[in-house]
Amino acid sequence: MSLATTSSLSTIFLCRGSSGVERGPEKAGVGSSILPLGTLMFIDTHSHLNFPDFSEDYPDVIARAKKAGIVAIINVGADLPTSKRAVDLAQKDDFCYATVGIHPTNTNNLKEEDYQKLEELAKSRKVVAVGEIGLDYFHNSTPKEIQKRNFERQILLAKKLNLPVIIHNRDAHQDVLAILEEKEVKKGVMHCFSGDINLAKKVLSLGLHISFTGNLTYKKNEGLRAAAKEIPLKKLLLETDCPYLPPQSRRGKRNEPGFLVYTAEELAKIKGISLEELGEITTNNARELFKL
Ligand code: NI
Repeated sequence: MSLATTSSLSTIFLCRGSSGVERGPEKAGVGSSILPLGTLMFIDTHSHLNFPDFSEDYPDVIARAKKAGIVAIINVGADLPTSKRAVDLAQKDDFCYATVGIHPTNTNNLKEEDYQKLEELAKSRKVVAVGEIGLDYFHNSTPKEIQKRNFERQILLAKKLNLPVIIHNRDAHQDVLAILEEKEVKKGVMHCFSGDINLAKKVLSLGLHISFTGNLTYKKNEGLRAAAKEIPLKKLLLETDCPYLPPQSRRGKRNEPGFLVYTAEELAKIKGISLEELGEITTNNARELFKL
């Protein structure tokens, strides 16, 4: 949003009241929830608007995201069809970027030709990373060795194309770190961070970024908030991972990019800075890492 637009609309406020993320000339008195329109800017660095969950109301979701200060969305692939869909959305919509990759739980039965297709897709315009890739030992559907092999292979693809990686890690901390170290991965993000400060330090020592979802707002996640406090601002990113992981105040609902602000609010509080400042810093971090 331009400065001119901001000043001309300075009496309109962005209100995040209990009714949801809305814009409008709301009544004063909601305390810290009222901010001048245009001062907030966020990038949702990990979204799945490419999933069928959004096929019915994609334009409305995008409109709400814009109203909530989202300036760009990176739609992340989890298999070949969703990678293709992410690329298609990015070609159509200025607002969207894409990543291509095979989620670890989808790595069973991959063929050589699938990798050829993935590489072709990865060369498309506005593809900004390879992901999401990694290891998932929670969903035990795919043997560990197969997951590892395909994680490594996709890391090599990212390196070949000089792209960062978006890493999925669920209950597989040690093996994920070992592979990242061995393959000397220096550019990427540990998405939906769910570890403690020790894991965060190891991830940071590799030079990687750390991204938080709505899980940062969950009541029981004190350890996660303690880790967030220690992570340098320069290395932080924000994401929704929508339609999954809605923030605390939206639990039980489908998540969407417009809800990013709730996670941002929590992170700003943890870091002791303003929401605007956090938005600016994390937006710059995302632009730098993904070259947006
Ligand atoms: Ni995801």
